[in-house]
Amino acid sequence: MNEKTQVGIIGAGPSGLLLSHLLHLKGIDSVILEARSRKYVEERVRAGVLEQGTVDLLCDTGLGDRLRREGLVHHGIELRFDGRGHRIALSDITGGRSIWIYGQREVVKDLIDARLEAQGAIHFEVDGVIPSGIDSDSPALNYQKDGREYELNCDFIAGCDGFHGVSRESIPAGVLRTYHHVYPFGWLGILAAVAPSTEELIYAYHERGFALHSLRSPEISRLYLQVEPDEDINNWPDDRIWEELSIRMATDDGWSLKTGPIIEKGITPMRSFVVEPMQHGRLFLAGDAAHIVPATGAKGLNLAVHDVHKLAEAFIAWYREGSNELLEQYSTNCLDRVWRVQDFSSFMSLMLHRYSDDDGFRGRLQRAQLEYICSSKAASRSLAENYVGLPHI
Ligand code: FAD
Ligand code: PHB
Repeated sequence: MNEKTQVGIIGAGPSGLLLSHLLHLKGIDSVILEARSRKYVEERVRAGVLEQGTVDLLCDTGLGDRLRREGLVHHGIELRFDGRGHRIALSDITGGRSIWIYGQREVVKDLIDARLEAQGAIHFEVDGVIPSGIDSDSPALNYQKDGREYELNCDFIAGCDGFHGVSRESIPAGVLRTYHHVYPFGWLGILAAVAPSTEELIYAYHERGFALHSLRSPEISRLYLQVEPDEDINNWPDDRIWEELSIRMATDDGWSLKTGPIIEKGITPMRSFVVEPMQHGRLFLAGDAAHIVPATGAKGLNLAVHDVHKLAEAFIAWYREGSNELLEQYSTNCLDRVWRVQDFSSFMSLMLHRYSDDDGFRGRLQRAQLEYICSSKAASRSLAENYVGLPHI
């Protein structure tokens, strides 16, 4: 069975869905192929922090209704170490910019609703997607659904299929240069049905390891603990998780962590990964398919949004004006920001995590850096402008 569209998109994560939405607004047709079910995609717990630029883009493109109603605007974050909290007043030192707490689940739900309302095509639960003809003017995506074979013919393919997807692998050997760094720690993340014990995010540095208190709503908290990268989740019964979080986040002034039922828990490795270039022939990579950043900077989703913004502009210029200039420059136009964010996320990760092989020297440097950020306007401003996100250019 054959189908035809202008842009064939692999993956219904934030990148693929937002790209399809942005193209639709300019009258460009796309079809999304997604390996998982709608329920699975909508319930995957991941990012929670949206940069101002991401929120502006979502609101400007008609996706802001629920975000404005349910999203929580934050004007600061806390760095906590040696039993004391230090507030970084993000908005005051970045000319009024802020971050929003609105879970990736909600972003994905809003996008799927918007695409389906506009009769957009998302084929869930497809198998064996194979891109072909990416060096020609008529690429295609072959796949199976419910045991039947399909071919989707298109002008372009957008590989929005995350780190483990097929699109990156379909680029001929020798084209891509890969940069990959695996950090010697992972994050154990929980979602808990308990009111947050803080109004703003807390990044805690402690000799037993890093801890992070984030949130999703006035009733739901999201917390993370640094663990070994190969840690077995079965070693972490709920009581142990709460106890460890309480120890790492403790303060001298009697702050206490509220505990409650854990709804979801999982372990994520921390890596930095980039491929260059992010394109080959008629295949363009976006989001986690092209790069991964360690979650300490809260940037993965925001970076994916920037990529597809650039990619949508490039497709629009091609279809509207017949110009392939932006398509040719796509990778170059994304990679500056990718590396800026890679640097910031790495900086946050190296500053806040404990290293098991530290003989004391690294810990001293980390503390000196934390003290500097909390006492110098210039240093806290540098952290803040990266955290709220540099403008989309
Ligand atoms: P994805 O969200 O990975 O979406 C890719 C989609 O492609 C998926 O739906 C997948 O099912 C589909 N797919 C894959 N292979 C195929 C195939 N062969 N055929 C068809 N479909 C396919 N970022 C933050 O900023 N903060 C966080 O706290 C945070 N936590 C994270 C926790 C985890 C466990 C992970 C994995 C990531 C986390 N991130 C976080 C990163 C953030 O979630 C990602 O940057 C974001 O999801 C990128 O979106 P994407 O659409 O590019 O990729
Ligand atoms: C989250 O809320 O999931 C979150 C917040 C900040 C981070 C990472 C994840 O740095």
